[in-house]
Amino acid sequence: MSNIARGLEGINVTATKLCRIDGLKGELVYAGYDIYELAEKSTFEEVLFLLWNNRLPNAAELAELDKNLKSERNLDDVVDRLLRELWPHVRPMRTLEIAVEVLGAIDPKSGELTQPQLRLTAQRLTAKMATVIASYHRLRNGQEPVPPRDDLGHAANFLWMLTGEEPNALHKRVFDVAMILHAEHEMNASTFSAMVTGSTLSDMYSAIASAIGTLKGPLHGGANEAVYRTVDAIKEERNIASYVEALLARGERVMGIGHRIYKTTDPRAVILEKLGHEVAETSPDRWYFDLSLKLRDYLARKLEGKPLYPNVDFFSASVYKMLGIPSDLYTPIFALARISGWTAHLLEQYADNRLMRPNALYEGNESRKYAPIGQR
Ligand SMILES: CC(C)(COP(=O)(O)OP(=O)(O)OC[C@H]1O[C@@H](n2cnc3c(N)ncnc32)[C@H](O)[C@@H]1OP(=O)(O)O)[C@@H](O)C(=O)NCCC(=O)NCCS
Repeated sequence: MSNIARGLEGINVTATKLCRIDGLKGELVYAGYDIYELAEKSTFEEVLFLLWNNRLPNAAELAELDKNLKSERNLDDVVDRLLRELWPHVRPMRTLEIAVEVLGAIDPKSGELTQPQLRLTAQRLTAKMATVIASYHRLRNGQEPVPPRDDLGHAANFLWMLTGEEPNALHKRVFDVAMILHAEHEMNASTFSAMVTGSTLSDMYSAIASAIGTLKGPLHGGANEAVYRTVDAIKEERNIASYVEALLARGERVMGIGHRIYKTTDPRAVILEKLGHEVAETSPDRWYFDLSLKLRDYLARKLEGKPLYPNVDFFSASVYKMLGIPSDLYTPIFALARISGWTAHLLEQYADNRLMRPNALYEGNESRKYAPIGQR
């Protein structure tokens, strides 16, 4: 086992200009810009441009990106029809995965892996994935999809398409920041998954579908929904200790706690907690945020000495809950933001590709003789 890096921990599989994380200092940096500064001053569209171009846009470039994204928001007929067929049978993450593959199937240029074409695909997926999830949600509620609004930015338009109501200024900002915080995270499992698929020179649609499937798992993007279920099940402060003790006794993990890289603090959780306090001021669901804080405090005492802290999923669950978003959309929303990082890494990789093909240490039998089936 000594020369196996289980879970690929500590292995550099590529070089990137997109993101740097210092897990001990709790630092997250996109293309040289600290996440705290981006969360305070930037927008999701600006971060998209930054990740796709390795620099911030000027006003004209930002307006151009904005225009291009808006022009891609509507769904093709075939995807619209597909959603109407799918929603009773399929959960949202798989819906997204299937819709992305269908978008690839109907794009005659899906196999064209030139940088300009890949950028168009990245824009298309970023815009349309938001419409897919919002439309899916409307349809399952027996409502017609809400057409996108050209006067709203990407994040605000998503909330609009979800509910048919324009979010207030605070909710717009908070959701936009949540998208920025989830946009990119170096070589996380879903990005790696996208890159493995892309490294075979399969197209960007299939690479993104792979990433969506990977993000779905509870140890990755699925954790935010699992956090929701945890807090919902605890219900009251007096149940925290018994709930956590029973969970740990079963050998299970507290969702939203711990991280492969962050061993002191996850800056995204710090920012989301701060925003959570702002949203809680006027939210009928503030009990949920307050209970999350109590759970966090209890765990801090319980796990003292272990490098286990709330991660981004811990507070995104309560922030989304207070924004009125259903819990099974938390992970899809993660995908709507992380599409920026996935596509940015793929752009880097397609420009200088090498097939990802590691080894496995063989520990099995040797020199066995094949016995006919009747003799086994
Ligand atoms: C994210 C995660 C998979 C990283 O795990 P990892 O780097 O593989 O860490 P390990 O599995 O080596 O865990 C190290 C120790 O911390 C414990 N631990 C890690 N996460 C824990 C959690 N959420 N709750 C309780 N204990 C936890 C492990 O049991 C292990 O304890 P041990 O040394 O006594 O055996 C893990 O922290 C986890 O499962 N968290 C919950 C899921 C989650 O929130 N995922 C979203 C990540 S953004």
